[in-house]
Amino acid sequence: MQNQRGCFITLEGLDGAGKSTHVQWLVDRLRDKGLQVLSTREPGGTALGERLRDILLSCDMHAKTEALLMFAARCEHVIQVILPALQQGTWVVCDRYTDASYAYQGGGRQLGSEAVQQLESWALNGLEPDRSWLFDVPLDVARQRLASAREPDRFEQEGAAFFERTRAAYHERVNTQPERLRLIDSTLPIEVIREQLGAQIDSLVSHWQARLTGSTA
Ligand code: TYD
Repeated sequence: MQNQRGCFITLEGLDGAGKSTHVQWLVDRLRDKGLQVLSTREPGGTALGERLRDILLSCDMHAKTEALLMFAARCEHVIQVILPALQQGTWVVCDRYTDASYAYQGGGRQLGSEAVQQLESWALNGLEPDRSWLFDVPLDVARQRLASAREPDRFEQEGAAFFERTRAAYHERVNTQPERLRLIDSTLPIEVIREQLGAQIDSLVSHWQARLTGSTA
């Protein structure tokens, strides 16, 4: 009987940084190790969250409204989906979480980190990821990759200055929380990235399993 909380993992990066390429791979790797894994995304992850996502990606709105809707979707996601899964011992892999709000709303939209921090502490019951990876690429690389992808959404249509601020805010998060949020150079070949990521995941799983064995011994 599992009685240990699952591990909460999030993936972050600018649009076009290549984060999505690695999500399913990461989930498969964890499942191959026999773990119960829930794969989800933000904004989204619940029926209400997915409706808010549609609005967020398509309707023009004030930056504060945008931040509030991001946290409305996240609040629902945490309470209805993420926390219950973690409590059952399931690992949760989430494509974006609060770091994205610090980066996009705090940095890109210039609301500042304090405003985001206030929303975070009010809405999330203190739930932070155990491990996060930032897929980092220079702006021109991200934009090049995006140009060859599908129709751009409301965020992807932003100009270079917005994404420079967003990237800088992500880097600030890495600097203040280096243990949790690890930077991955996403210009490297996919196999090299997977080697780096794989080693870190294996170590995370070993530690978790060692604690599990300890707690049931
Ligand atoms: P994403 O899931 O990366 O979309 P895609 O389907 O294009 O891979 O994220 C959608 C957009 O939402 C992305 O441009 C970043 C933005 N976003 C924020 O601005 N703040 C947030 O807190 C989150 C979670 C996402």
